[in-house]
Amino acid sequence: MIKVQFAARPERWTGYQAPLTAAFEKAGLDVDLRQDHAPADVDYVVYAPNSDLQDFTPYTGCKAVLSLWAGVEKITGNQTLTMPLCRMVDPGLTAGMVEWVAGHVLRYHLDIDRSIATQDRWEPVVPPLAQERPVTVLGLGALGAACAQGLAKFGFPVTGWSRSSKEISGIICQHGPDGLTQALSQAEILVLLLPDTPATENILNAETLAQLPKGARIINPGRGPLIDDAALLAALDTGHIAHATLDVFRVEPLPATDPYWAHPKVTVTPHIAAETRAVTAAQMIAENIQRGEAGAPFLNQVDRELGY
Ligand SMILES: NC(=O)c1ccc[n+]([C@@H]2O[C@H](COP(=O)([O-])OP(=O)(O)OC[C@H]3O[C@@H](n4cnc5c(N)ncnc54)[C@H](OP(=O)(O)O)[C@@H]3O)[C@@H](O)[C@H]2O)c1
Repeated sequence: MIKVQFAARPERWTGYQAPLTAAFEKAGLDVDLRQDHAPADVDYVVYAPNSDLQDFTPYTGCKAVLSLWAGVEKITGNQTLTMPLCRMVDPGLTAGMVEWVAGHVLRYHLDIDRSIATQDRWEPVVPPLAQERPVTVLGLGALGAACAQGLAKFGFPVTGWSRSSKEISGIICQHGPDGLTQALSQAEILVLLLPDTPATENILNAETLAQLPKGARIINPGRGPLIDDAALLAALDTGHIAHATLDVFRVEPLPATDPYWAHPKVTVTPHIAAETRAVTAAQMIAENIQRGEAGAPFLNQVDRELGY
């Protein structure tokens, strides 16, 4: 019998127990799923990085730690986590991110706020078509690529940027430092879907913000440290950046005194862009355990050197 430890905040157990049990059964896996296995007996840990489990030293037989989160920056530096670590790629989470990003891009594109603000006046302003509005997505991974393709379906000319070179149908793909300048120079709307790593910290800073066209809008559902906050606030104040929608922050919940809260050109959302969905995530976890048991390579294994 495969022993799987569920290590997340206690309130998550009720949401995940049944979907995980069903997914293991469907995958033909004989699993004993619990929150309280003796650590040395555990074969796999299903893990949320904010769980109480931070010392993996006693998990001597553990074959993999399977994260429930897509972002793993909180645990990549954990020196006790020496076994393979897999991040979450979940079709439900991806679908949620595509919807959230599309919603916020369309809010900017159609200037929906203006229509709401002037709903007591008959002042028609015809928005351009999507095909006239270049959008750039930084990060072309599970989420960035899906969002880029979703936006391209509306007709937006979409440029994407990643570390390694890519070919994605319907997307102009850029990579590396020169590619970043290209990707930013066109971006009337910029979406950040990079992971938080040493190489991506403050990737949006005074210099790169200046490479965006005047009046650009920024949407950040990636991670807070991607943005140099002081530089963004300065660019909003000069009007170089017209508006920003921020879902993630260096400190969460965003402290009450943070200038983003009161800034007229900032929309704050409480880290709700996309949530892992238990039923689809459970299927991904079952698939990775199946692979582990068959000696096949895990899906979505984190590269510790790169940090994602
Ligand atoms: N707000 C929310 O609710 C929420 C929910 C889920 C996830 N997230 C965030 O979204 C992030 C992205 O998730 P994902 O599943 O799409 O990650 P992923 O599949 O690992 O993709 C990461 C992408 O970023 C690129 N990248 C990484 N480092 C780079 C660098 N130094 N320069 C250029 N490109 C770089 C990668 O390039 P390569 O393709 O070349 O490797 C890849 O395209 C997560 O890390 C998490 O922080 C937020």
